[in-house]
Amino acid sequence: MKKKKKLSASNADINRLYEESVQCTEFEVDFINKLFKRYNNTKCKSLREDFCASALISAEWVLDNKENTAVAVDLDKNMVREAKKNSQMKLSEDQQDRLKIYYGDSSKFSKDKVDCVLATNFSYFVFKERKKLINYFKHAYKQLKNKGILMLDAFGGYEAHQLLEERTKHKNFTYVWDQSSFNPITHDIKCHIHFEFPDKTKINKAFTYNWRLWTLPEIQECLKEAGFKKVDIYMQGWNDKKNEETERFYKVTKSDADPAWVAYLAARK
Ligand SMILES: C[S@@+](CC[C@H](N)C(=O)[O-])C[C@H]1O[C@@H](n2cnc3c(N)ncnc32)[C@H](O)[C@@H]1O
Repeated sequence: MKKKKKLSASNADINRLYEESVQCTEFEVDFINKLFKRYNNTKCKSLREDFCASALISAEWVLDNKENTAVAVDLDKNMVREAKKNSQMKLSEDQQDRLKIYYGDSSKFSKDKVDCVLATNFSYFVFKERKKLINYFKHAYKQLKNKGILMLDAFGGYEAHQLLEERTKHKNFTYVWDQSSFNPITHDIKCHIHFEFPDKTKINKAFTYNWRLWTLPEIQECLKEAGFKKVDIYMQGWNDKKNEETERFYKVTKSDADPAWVAYLAARK
């Protein structure tokens, strides 16, 4: 039997490592389904995944139900090519027909209206000026049907203002989240993702993000200014016994001043 090559900087695919490190598509699909049903008492069928990268959530969406459709948009031509290749490999013909992947700027690209627009892993932090952020939210608003929801995530807490490297061990590699600069005057934040391997090789700066670390009050104000009537915040639960986050997110209006938190925002028309 052929021995499987050990994962190392020379043979690793950074997109697969990224997905394994930061994405959980089943969770996202389940969460969208639950929230939409709670708000509208009907099923969410059409999804638009902005800043889609390899469009994994969209692929999971069309797999989840045979009535589901998805539109995925990214501004990186290589990512779009990669997303199309993945969808051909993973999905049946019918599923591929229900998933359309486009190259485009998520703040400008228009297609058929959908039930839910999703922007995950803080991608909209790329819009650093208030005007540009509101412009993106206004565009997302226009892409939604009457009872549609825009779902976003955000991160914060005092550790988000610190320069730090956080290591997470996976089976064959270590994921490193590197907050390499933060300017408290502008909230400009620069983050890198590095990968380290058991043979001591590394992929430095596999991904780099130049963002503005938007705060939850700012994001809510911008969403309202863009026309959204109601914005709910969902914070991750905490298990006191295990001293770790739970898998569930809860709708809250008040929260502890945790050192680091991740939240979801659900904005309704
Ligand atoms: C942090 S990754 C997010 C990937 C994925 N959504 C996730 O949840 O992991 C950001 C992605 O946004 C894309 N991007 C950046 N600016 C964009 C824009 N204006 N319109 C569409 N995509 C954009 C990048 O090419 C990159 O693939």
